[in-house]
Amino acid sequence: MSGYVLAIDQGTTSSRAIVFDDHFRIVGIGQKEFPQHFPRSGWVEHDPEDIWNSVVETIRSALADASLSASDIAAIGITNQRETVVVWDRASGKPIHNAVVWQDRRTSDICRRLREDGAEELLIEKTGLLVDPYFSGTKIAWILDHVEGARARAENGDLAFGTIDSFLLWRLTGGKVHATDTTNACRTQLFDISRHEWDEELLKLLNVPAALLPEVKDCDADFGTTDGSLFGAAIPIRGIAGDQHAATLGQACFSPGMLKSTYGTGCFAVLNTGETKVRSTSRLLTTIAYRLSGKTSYALEGSIFVAGAAVQWLRDGLGLVDRAEETGPMAASADDDEDVVMVPAFTGLGAPWWNADARGAIYGLTRKSGPKEIARAALEATCFQTADLLRAMRTDFAEASDTILRVDGGMVASDWTMQRLADLLDAPVDRPVVLETTALGAAWLAGHAAGVWPGQEGFGARWKLERRFEPQMSAVERGARLTLWENAIKRTLAA
Ligand code: G3P
Repeated sequence: MSGYVLAIDQGTTSSRAIVFDDHFRIVGIGQKEFPQHFPRSGWVEHDPEDIWNSVVETIRSALADASLSASDIAAIGITNQRETVVVWDRASGKPIHNAVVWQDRRTSDICRRLREDGAEELLIEKTGLLVDPYFSGTKIAWILDHVEGARARAENGDLAFGTIDSFLLWRLTGGKVHATDTTNACRTQLFDISRHEWDEELLKLLNVPAALLPEVKDCDADFGTTDGSLFGAAIPIRGIAGDQHAATLGQACFSPGMLKSTYGTGCFAVLNTGETKVRSTSRLLTTIAYRLSGKTSYALEGSIFVAGAAVQWLRDGLGLVDRAEETGPMAASADDDEDVVMVPAFTGLGAPWWNADARGAIYGLTRKSGPKEIARAALEATCFQTADLLRAMRTDFAEASDTILRVDGGMVASDWTMQRLADLLDAPVDRPVVLETTALGAAWLAGHAAGVWPGQEGFGARWKLERRFEPQMSAVERGARLTLWENAIKRTLAA
């Protein structure tokens, strides 16, 4: 059998398909952005048909780019934006509403009530998650309560729920398989991460009928095959993981204490805690890092909702730059005397603050402040937020005290940002040669499950460092900058 593996990476703003060979080299790639819908302030939706069409198109482009056909591919791995909710009709396969995206805040009132009713402790205990509109559970209930007749149809078993992996799997298999993997299931607020099953009590609490739910499998399970008519031959689907979990695998963070952070639309830091399900004292999430052949590895996760999205806003919202890459050099030449700080709470604040109602702010503007200082503030905000997460992780898990951060995602191409990150964390930052770690992690799951790629050890040995950024900032300067950030956060939370 060939060693070619195709990864589908369905992200928040674009879909990608990447073909890797058995040396983990990229031999073909397809990428397509799709429209974002903001029907109201704080709401974010995607049309599931746009997502589906972009995935089919990018798979075809990636195969063409690699000069391969479907029969050359040993297996497919799927990785995806997590928490985003699709509800569809089982008979027609058609979604009954746009996908409600992870960034969407429409259920913040439901979450407030849940918190007031004292439900948070139960949720933390069973799911490792806090009460926040970020997660899927309240979004599912919202769709059922706002689409006419949906709740009754859901109770009758006529509708299906899925995170994006599950929706894609359903479509790819021609409606034959309704399943998800543990890493996606564990972000729904409906899944008990100790017992590894959907939880009756939580389904009742969040008002979600069990008849909607997919079967939950391990990340390296057999998920069926693609419908032969789609790509010319049926391809086995042998791996699924949410994007941050796939990146953890792609960064070969297989041992407790290993930490990765992915800088995409948002920033998600995942610390492997092995078999220990650590309860955070700092409002981090306890989550399943991955589950392979019946063995679970847990993680602590810090979720920041806006990282690259702030740079995207500078480009598309403010028109300050034409290309995202311009921001690094601008930041490098910003005026050191100007202390402009941005809190990019466009969709509320995630870890460790969890404030759904907070909104973005820029502090410290003077007549001398300009585009360069604002660009620096956007990039530095991501570093400040990562510093908050690492501080919390060090408190929760002793093995994280002298850890090195492995980074990936679009923003890490900026040397300035990575140096500032190391400076503010006071820890080394490792940038690997392969930056497509999310897709690579999904490909590894599928390639290994299909028997054409090596196991953890062989795969981990191939991880290669491109550059290490060592902290260079003085303790005094670091302290001063972190104080600026703390003050900005306080003012944003108080607003
Ligand atoms: O939890 C949301 C996350 O999975 C989205 O990731 O890469 O699209 O920012 P990304």
